[in-house]
Amino acid sequence: MKLIHLTDTHLTTPGRTLYGIDPLARLNAAVAHIAQQHADAEICVITGDLTHWGEPAAYVSLREVLQRLPMPVLPLIGNHDSRAAFCAAFPDVPRDASGFVQLTHDTSAGRLILLDTVLGDAAPGRKSAGYFDAGRIDWLRQQLDAAQQDGVAVFLFMHHPPFGVGIPAFDDINLVAADALEFGALLRGYRHIRHLFFGHIHRPISGSWHGIPFSTLPATAHQSGLDFLADTDLFTHEAPGYGVVLIQPEQVTVHISDFLYNGPLFDPASERL
Ligand SMILES: [Fe+2]
Repeated sequence: MKLIHLTDTHLTTPGRTLYGIDPLARLNAAVAHIAQQHADAEICVITGDLTHWGEPAAYVSLREVLQRLPMPVLPLIGNHDSRAAFCAAFPDVPRDASGFVQLTHDTSAGRLILLDTVLGDAAPGRKSAGYFDAGRIDWLRQQLDAAQQDGVAVFLFMHHPPFGVGIPAFDDINLVAADALEFGALLRGYRHIRHLFFGHIHRPISGSWHGIPFSTLPATAHQSGLDFLADTDLFTHEAPGYGVVLIQPEQVTVHISDFLYNGPLFDPASERL
């Protein structure tokens, strides 16, 4: 099964640039590349920060662009999004009983569980950080139990990582410590979680956490510089990307497509002694 992972599209109102980049043009280019290269993909998931300022017009343009993808798309929200504006533009996307944008979706390779890690609408807290309170933990426990009973593998998708990645500027705005602790304790109890996908960092990173493999990607918009010393992240024009995930019964393979690459191409046979 082939799955496309997109993240951090950060759309603005059409025409408005962000850090010297037109995020809508970037997403248009990614969608065209995906449509040309990966029409055989079963599903596409976008792990949040769909827009930069949560403007209704940005969600309308997002919806228009995504209609050009040849496969169904499951968007989830990030800290830059407005839950209300997202739900107004995407009324068909299910929400849980508490109004969080959380859902499950069955594929030929297993069950996708999409989580909402954004601060609750009326809750106090820091907007950039991630939250997964007791109510959302209960919802996830129910979904993990159901998948276990159904005998299907689980693939988790969320915006904020539930752990630090060693970059100081981001380790201050992942899932808040208490929620991350509960989240980790819950996941440790299950053996059918095959992979954890997230966004938020705007960089390619992979590893494992409590034995669960994870990966994240460059944004389609601006990137974050890899600086292990700075307290503040500085954005860069490093190459954007999207993920091409190949899922087999015994293997998960994550490729990152450098969809804007326009440099030279060399035939290996052209170099001779
Ligand atoms: Fe982002």
